[in-house]
Amino acid sequence: MDTDPVIAEQIAYYRARAGEYDDWWERRAEYDVGPEFGAAWKRDVAELRAWLERVEPSGDVLELAAGTGNWTAELARYADRITAVDSSPEVLEINRGKNGTERVEYVVADLFHWSPPRRYDVVFFSFWISHVPSDRWDEFWRLVEASLAPGGLVLFCDNAHPDHARRHGPVDWRVVAAIHQLDDVDGEFRWRRLRSGSTFRIVKRYWRPDDLVADLEERGWRAQAGHTTFAFLYGEATRRR
Ligand SMILES: C[S@@+](CC[C@H](N)C(=O)[O-])C[C@H]1O[C@@H](n2cnc3c(N)ncnc32)[C@H](O)[C@@H]1O
Repeated sequence: MDTDPVIAEQIAYYRARAGEYDDWWERRAEYDVGPEFGAAWKRDVAELRAWLERVEPSGDVLELAAGTGNWTAELARYADRITAVDSSPEVLEINRGKNGTERVEYVVADLFHWSPPRRYDVVFFSFWISHVPSDRWDEFWRLVEASLAPGGLVLFCDNAHPDHARRHGPVDWRVVAAIHQLDDVDGEFRWRRLRSGSTFRIVKRYWRPDDLVADLEERGWRAQAGHTTFAFLYGEATRRR
């Protein structure tokens, strides 16, 4: 268990949420906010998949915070080998059920207490950077650097900043976005409630592509990032020095 209470609570949240997580991704149950939103979400997921198809992340791939495996499945289309790391054994069990083959190795670990056993051709993380607290951001990118083989590629995607989503999303998204605004604790935290009724405080730092690129460039990465039509941010980075 991480001694940083912010990290520990976030780990606990995703462990408890394991069985509910895919309903968010598939826009089922309470996440189904209507056909217009559902169609726009699907289109944006297809845009992310097309991006990955262009990049073709082959070779020895490390997936950080791999979760229930919706992106492990995508990576498996290109990678020779995947190491999927996550702090929740519960989500990795679901991931294994979808993607478990001898090409995928599962590692239960808190990323802030984990060192890569080797260097990888590709380091991938989806819907993770928004959960890295500002005071662990530097440490996280040092882990990415330590995990990457010379000439290797970093790939990431996450939720788009709500300003982008509201501007470019379907009308019914604005209702959801308005609800989400109510759960602010402060700039970096949000409250989340599970079906059991338990509540957790998690980190949610939405990045804008330009800010993220500028931040990574300062850390010695050559980076590019952009948005899908409304829902997602995605990008790539390579080591400059
Ligand atoms: C929003 S989910 C994203 C999962 C997956 N990448 C996806 O796109 O569906 C965040 C994931 O981070 C994991 N996680 C949270 N804190 C972590 C930590 N300190 N170390 C490793 N994984 C962590 C959670 O268990 C969860 O699976």
